[in-house]
Amino acid sequence: MCGIIGVVGSSDTLATLLEGLARLEYRGYDSAGVALVRPGETWRARAAEGTESVRALRKECEFAPTGFASGIGHTRWATHGAPVTMNAHPHLDCSGHVAIIHNGIIENHTELQEQLESRGHVFTSRTDSEVLAHLIEESRAKGLDLTESVRQSLLVVRGAFAVAAMDANEADVIVAARRVSPLIIGTAPGVTYLASDVPAILDRATSFYAVNDDEIVRLAPEGFRAIDLDGAPVRLHQLTIDWDLETAQKAGHDDFMTKEINEQPDAIRSTLLDRRRRDGTITFDELRISDEELRDVQRVVIVAAGTSNHAAQIAKYAIERWARLSAEVDISSEYRYRDPVVEIGTLVIGVSQSGETIDTIQAIREARRRGARVVAVSNIVDSSLARESDAVIYTRAGLEVSVASTKAFVAQVAALELLALRLAQLRETIPASDIDALFQGLNAVADQVTTALERRASVEDVAKQLLGARDFFFLGRHVGFPTALEGALKLKELSYLHAEGYPAGELKHGPLALIEPGVIVVAVATDPALHEKMLSNLAEVKARGATVVVVATDDDESIDALADYVLRVPATEPLFTPMVDIVPLQLFAYTMARGLGRNVDRPRNLAKTVTVE
Ligand code: AGP
Repeated sequence: MCGIIGVVGSSDTLATLLEGLARLEYRGYDSAGVALVRPGETWRARAAEGTESVRALRKECEFAPTGFASGIGHTRWATHGAPVTMNAHPHLDCSGHVAIIHNGIIENHTELQEQLESRGHVFTSRTDSEVLAHLIEESRAKGLDLTESVRQSLLVVRGAFAVAAMDANEADVIVAARRVSPLIIGTAPGVTYLASDVPAILDRATSFYAVNDDEIVRLAPEGFRAIDLDGAPVRLHQLTIDWDLETAQKAGHDDFMTKEINEQPDAIRSTLLDRRRRDGTITFDELRISDEELRDVQRVVIVAAGTSNHAAQIAKYAIERWARLSAEVDISSEYRYRDPVVEIGTLVIGVSQSGETIDTIQAIREARRRGARVVAVSNIVDSSLARESDAVIYTRAGLEVSVASTKAFVAQVAALELLALRLAQLRETIPASDIDALFQGLNAVADQVTTALERRASVEDVAKQLLGARDFFFLGRHVGFPTALEGALKLKELSYLHAEGYPAGELKHGPLALIEPGVIVVAVATDPALHEKMLSNLAEVKARGATVVVVATDDDESIDALADYVLRVPATEPLFTPMVDIVPLQLFAYTMARGLGRNVDRPRNLAKTVTVE
């Protein structure tokens, strides 16, 4: 995803844009740019310095001309085209007068570009967004005003957009529009703003309005006018914003953790967006390893720490199940001390939300030293891990502020399972029809996560009844086991209570001795193939006095006989279940922690990124 901002009627346009971009950095990292417009003149500056892009852009603007009352700005999260300056927004038309910024994906950009090029347009970037500038240019050349030009252009576009356009020949106007990607309008006396979210303009605008899908807004210094895609006038919904800036950045939630738990459906959708061509080929634009190399992979080793290690463990099951490739998972801090075996054809995957975890960076350094090809899975563009790997797959979860990882976890699982499907596609280990079905199923997970989130109250109710408990076991089988590990980690790091994740089948080999009245056993029992085994494990702990909480599917009628509490989730493909089943476990941990008065965003002793060994 990207971040956009715009202003008309301002006395400090550039400062407004740069401050707003700094607040939008969480939406896009790899490049940033601004365009200033006044009658007859469009001035542009761009920078592509990874996470330093906004700072580099500020430097680019040090000697910007003054006297521009209007402008637009953009932070980019590369989806089409490498994260380099030529692909940074704003993009211009052939005349250099029309400037556009865009957040989203233009799905039919290839055919549109071919048509525009056949009519003489010259493209200067490798992005999907640039087609918008040239489409608008063509309408303007027919004498249409900027609003009508944007409307005509959007009528031929398929995909998602929050777009803003300016033209030096209509300098005191910005025309913006939205489909799927967020867009906010702000007003103050004599100045009108647009942004991807409220925080970007919170300290300048005094009134805020939400733009809905397929609505087009003409911004002028005296205010704005909105129409729908048919040209009919519409009224924008006014927002009540009584937040301070930090609250705004929490999007009105009590804390970042709640915000980020609720962003999980979008994190999955964004991570999967536009990752499959019309012919069914699964693609990772940013992955710079050839299909031939991927096809020749003989063994996969995944190194990661903490929550990322749990995502890696889930990926192991998917890679082995679908691609029939041997896969193993190592704890980052252990990998390089075990004199690891790296043969020809070994692919090492380093998984890290921050891309700065030194244990994981050291692990992939060791792997590369021993001749492995390395792929990073990172949530931060241009992170150290990404830069030190041969290739990278970006999760697009957006900035994760809370120390306890939530949305990054589900995004990692989605990205890694998509990679497993790609490996299966290349190795032809499962029929194309099955890959299609699994791809569709993976894309449906976001909705299932939404359903699980809607059941928050029932999870909170159970957690509140168990406040005071001191000992927890989290049990699962197959991918339910790493899910249990992740649930236990969430409870430990948020509430400071002791919790252990364990393979359910392993309990009887010793830890069962710990089970007694007062111990809480939380079980993940959503895989039909292992349900009977889970029931017998639960009977074992129940018989010894444990209190049993079970994550079970909506259609599971047998669990009630054994469970003291049931946390219901929608059923899904077994390998997809961790992304859904983890939601009640996150909410459980969060509620326990809040009940104990913990700081859920900044738990004691912990850092968001562990850059020391
Ligand atoms: C997870 O909630 C913790 N914050 C921690 O285990 C984290 O997952 C671990 O430090 C790895 O971080 P990374 O994904 O940025 O490498």
